[in-house]
Amino acid sequence: MTFEKHIDITQTLADDDKRYLWHPFTQQQAWESESPVIIERAEGSYLIDVAGNRYLDGVSSLWVNVHGHGRPEINQAIVEQLNRVAHSTFLGLSHPPGITLARRLVELSPGQLNRVFYSDTGAAAVEIALKMAYQYWRQCPTPQPNRTTFLTLRNSYHGDTVGAMSVGGIDLFFQIYQHLFFPTYKAHYDLNEIERMVIAHKDSLVAVVMEPLVQGAAGMLVYPSGFTRAIWEIAKRHDLLFIVDEVATGFGRTGTMFACEHEGIEPDLMALGKGISGGYLPLAATLATERIYQAFLGQAHEFRTFYHGHTYTGNPVVCAAALASLDLFEQDQTLRHLQPKIAQLQEGLPHFWELPIVGDIRQCGFMVGIELMQNRDTQAAFEIEQKAAIRVVKAARQRGVIVRPLGDVVILMPPLSITAAELATLLDVVYASIAAVAQELDTVSYQNREEQ
Ligand SMILES: Cc1ncc(COP(=O)(O)O)c(C=O)c1O
Repeated sequence: MTFEKHIDITQTLADDDKRYLWHPFTQQQAWESESPVIIERAEGSYLIDVAGNRYLDGVSSLWVNVHGHGRPEINQAIVEQLNRVAHSTFLGLSHPPGITLARRLVELSPGQLNRVFYSDTGAAAVEIALKMAYQYWRQCPTPQPNRTTFLTLRNSYHGDTVGAMSVGGIDLFFQIYQHLFFPTYKAHYDLNEIERMVIAHKDSLVAVVMEPLVQGAAGMLVYPSGFTRAIWEIAKRHDLLFIVDEVATGFGRTGTMFACEHEGIEPDLMALGKGISGGYLPLAATLATERIYQAFLGQAHEFRTFYHGHTYTGNPVVCAAALASLDLFEQDQTLRHLQPKIAQLQEGLPHFWELPIVGDIRQCGFMVGIELMQNRDTQAAFEIEQKAAIRVVKAARQRGVIVRPLGDVVILMPPLSITAAELATLLDVVYASIAAVAQELDTVSYQNREEQ
């Protein structure tokens, strides 16, 4: 293909993107005024666009990629399963990869979780946990139908479907839909307050729902050590169910397979997603204990069935990818090799305090948030129009690195398989990008002062 022809195709794709697409969490007005990066291929830790530019994938393609892109083992498992059957329903039928994956997830999972219910996005996995918990109290040995609501933490994020938003707490994303939500109690990060709320509303509460160790989408807000366990203990003390959302933290992100392991937590229900398939195909799962499962057993006329399912629930190709990903955890000793890289982040991040617009640095294993602030001492935020983190993301992209903003927090969440040298590049590029934006914003505010 000639160079001109290639440019033409790239331009046509960009035009069609702006003309026909609506991207998630994207202000399309800004999007339409910019040139999109159109990813065509990927290998290892790199994404490659239609023009052949390579970008280090600093956010694991939205926190999902575990073993790198284009791993032959996962690709091969997908192709082999495709050659057997691409899809066969899980309603009334079963299949080998779905069965084997369920066994392996149960073996890996914390505590007493021993049943796997598949879905395809993290939000669905959470909704399913909410519905299971709610129905449980209506069908358990001593039914408690007054239990209708959930306790969650402020700033939590569990996905964008209406139920998942109801238990979420990020006003920016959810406030506009608030009249659609079922009521929940939203607690501050205060264990005494949480216990008081639980005692006050004990009879109406179904469960406590939370992200363990860190609130990811809130901008990597890391709880103090022991905080998640303390909330689990409160839930246990007052006989509430404990739903843990490991969609972001699961599959090695915090340094252990599941975040619950850090604090010896044994949840009643656990939502999984993102890294479950190694980041190759959409899969999610809700794991439940035997106690919950038993409450759903009965004769047809008792109507105790869990009335929930999706067309592609437990798709066999996706399950095959997930099995191959679990094999790679063993073969590559992913978690063992991750530890020095977590340490490398711990050593490299304090250096960012040298940058005047860095207001906070938060890390939980391989999850990092660098919060930008106008003034670190007064904790003054940037104005939204200053687009501080968006500028950093663009500056990093020009330097060949993809990172994402969450408000004014720059998120780093590379594939667990990233090499030490690539991780050093990620840190260097993000550092240089923040430094460049600090200078740019300083120049702009200096000019503004001059003009006044
Ligand atoms: C903790 C948590 N739960 C749920 C979700 C929703 O997952 P999905 O986007 O696959 O619906 C996310 C996504 O970021 C998440 O971080």
